[in-house]
Amino acid sequence: MKDHIESILLDQDDIREICKRLGNQIDEDYQNKNPMLVGLLKGCVPFIGDLGKYITIPIEMEYMDVSSYHGAKSSLEVKILKDLDSPVKGRHVLIAEDIVDTGFTLTKVIQLLKYRGAASVEVVTLLNKEEGRLTKMVPKYIGQEIPNRFVVGYGLDYNQKYRNLPYVGILKQEIYE
Ligand code: XMP
Ligand code: MG
Repeated sequence: MKDHIESILLDQDDIREICKRLGNQIDEDYQNKNPMLVGLLKGCVPFIGDLGKYITIPIEMEYMDVSSYHGAKSSLEVKILKDLDSPVKGRHVLIAEDIVDTGFTLTKVIQLLKYRGAASVEVVTLLNKEEGRLTKMVPKYIGQEIPNRFVVGYGLDYNQKYRNLPYVGILKQEIYE
């Protein structure tokens, strides 16, 4: 698979350092808040696993699976494929994402969790593509800013492949063209 990768953006050491830094920040900010860390499947899996190791305060881990699609009037809709197992009413929710691009998916999920009565909803993302943003979504915790290129690995896929790569890399254009 490595021959499909143009260049590596984050290797395993980079990712570990990022997870340590974010884990420490979350520890400080969520003292005594018993936050619910909500991973968005499937891309969050390696990240939430590693991040969790560096959070030392008590947390609960939950997962949601959503898919975005263009509904009527070309508005973006989000379909819930797997919902949370526990209520979020009154809870401090921290959503863990692999990458924030346009921000549409997260905007919808945040709206929903606030509507359900979450006390707070913030986002921790491994990668942030600021150039791709089409919404006002601002993740509170960002692992790494990346250029507006298609990246795979460490949870991120192209046609469901490459998620198991231990690093994040730019996919060669010839693979998806
Ligand atoms: P938004 O709603 O922020 O969606 O546009 C973010 C979701 O889009 C996917 N995405 C990517 N997946 N490489 C990927 O493998 C990328 O470079 C990329 N950019 C966006 C991803 O599913 C993310 O959760
Ligand atoms: Mg995703």
